Amino acid sequence: MFQKDLLQARRALITGGGTGLGKGTARRFLELGATVYICGRREKVLAETEKELRQISRNIHSIPCDVRDAAAVEKMVETIWNDGPLDILVNNAAGNFLARTEELSLRAFEAVIGIVLMGTLHVTLACGRRWLKIGHRAVVLNVTTTYTTSGSAYVVPSAVSKAGVEALTRSLAVEWGNRGIRMNAIAPGPIPTEGAFSRLLPRPELEKHALQRNPLGRFGTPAEFANLAAFLVSDGAGYINGEVVVMDGGEWLQGAGEFTSLGRMLTEEEWASMKPRKPSGD
Ligand code: COA
Repeated sequence: MFQKDLLQARRALITGGGTGLGKGTARRFLELGATVYICGRREKVLAETEKELRQISRNIHSIPCDVRDAAAVEKMVETIWNDGPLDILVNNAAGNFLARTEELSLRAFEAVIGIVLMGTLHVTLACGRRWLKIGHRAVVLNVTTTYTTSGSAYVVPSAVSKAGVEALTRSLAVEWGNRGIRMNAIAPGPIPTEGAFSRLLPRPELEKHALQRNPLGRFGTPAEFANLAAFLVSDGAGYINGEVVVMDGGEWLQGAGEFTSLGRMLTEEEWASMKPRKPSGD
């Protein structure tokens, strides 16, 4: 799909890169020639992922860091900058779980908002200030979700955080665009990863229901996400700025269309009865 050297000599940081979509994206970026830094909270998981991805390229590095901690983020970015400036930032680290909002503690809100919204802000600012200072061209890719405009029951901390990340994406795309920094987001639909599915689909049989909600009748794959990410951070997408690209097989559109579910419940006889009657010829 891409030239093998698409991201040659590019230096990328992927937050939450030890697992799931972040790991899949790290793999793809390495295949396309980039030097990739992954960060995450769990040192052991990161080390294992680094070891695995080293089989693709030696240009993989891991740094333990909790993106909620602004000082720790500053330290990590400074460490990376000692080897040279980054060119690409993927804000992928996230946290989410299903819960009835009235039962959530303040710390539960803070945990998700801290990772998703504040974490994205911490890393974006730490990199952005450095880029602007030296006039370095760069690209940021944020990961949001399909329920940012509609909101969603039972995932309120995530919904408010991801909506904020989309506002950040569009705002900084304009504020920093004329200084060489592009910023976009991907809004993925359901993609099976251990982190997301264990928290968001508590019973395996609920998968069937989730599949029925999707026009394509299947989930997305980490490889499909990584291909879109690679395109958006590449020069081929150089004029795309401030965009949120939905990648969900058409799932949210199916949910939004007023007549979609009704139409699927009609029988052949009912469809036939709604056709215009042929003139009788009298
Ligand atoms: N329902 C209600 N409250 C929950 C919860 C749940 N499922 N999971 C955690 N919380 C609450 C905790 O009770 C705690 O609040 P309290 O101190 O008032 O009891 C607060 O959230 C922090 O929990 P803790 O486990 O200390 O936070 P953490 O930093 O270890 O975990 C999470 C962060 C909660 C976001 C966790 O789900 C996580 O690590 N997620 C990362 C991976 C992920 O979510 N991936 C999917 C992305 S789509």
